[in-house]
Amino acid sequence: MNQDQKKNKVAEAALDYIESGQIIGIGSGTTVHALINKLETVKSKIEAVVSSSELTTKMVKEKKIRVIELRESGMLPLYIDGADESNDKRQLIKGGGGALTREKIIANSSEKFLCLIDDSKYVKTLGSFPLPIEVIKMSQSMVALEMIKLGGRPVYRNDFITDNGNIILDVHGLEILEPMALEQKINNIPGVVTNGLFAMRGADNLLISGDDGIKNM
Ligand code: 5RP
Repeated sequence: MNQDQKKNKVAEAALDYIESGQIIGIGSGTTVHALINKLETVKSKIEAVVSSSELTTKMVKEKKIRVIELRESGMLPLYIDGADESNDKRQLIKGGGGALTREKIIANSSEKFLCLIDDSKYVKTLGSFPLPIEVIKMSQSMVALEMIKLGGRPVYRNDFITDNGNIILDVHGLEILEPMALEQKINNIPGVVTNGLFAMRGADNLLISGDDGIKNM
């Protein structure tokens, strides 16, 4: 199976987690697009969706599913999203699509975070995928300097502005041995809005799609 086929399979498997009458959080990225394209079959169960990006909002509304704000929903029973990497503790790197801040807010506001990946994203140590950091533009060079001190190689994401009006630095070359400590350290740099480490609030369930089917971790 190629990666798109694996994404489709894992998106299909996620449908079983949606219960009647739920308001669910939905993330961003191509795995989530595959999920949204399958929501038709469970649409009657979904009370509303809280969305993590403008694109997700548009796609969900096109399916004629109601999208509401987090301030209206309060705590959510379920959040479904993809990731760029996961380790065996279900600690993640996210933000390849640049929606990390809203994704982290929703993950943190959800009782269950169901994460969908294909097996190429399951790693022993996080960091092969460049760590995205959403940064207020004014602090770009200062945050970049701090990341160099931490052993990384920050790269400005060209022609990209987040839904919150900020820039992204993608930090290459980090071998992330202590994800929680690094997540906190980066968040403490003035000008950092969010970093793409989801370690303090990782996933509760991880569905990994491979040639042999779906593994639930
Ligand atoms: C977006 C994300 C995505 O979940 C992550 O980048 C995975 O994307 P894809 O499903 O396209 O591989 O964090 O900010």
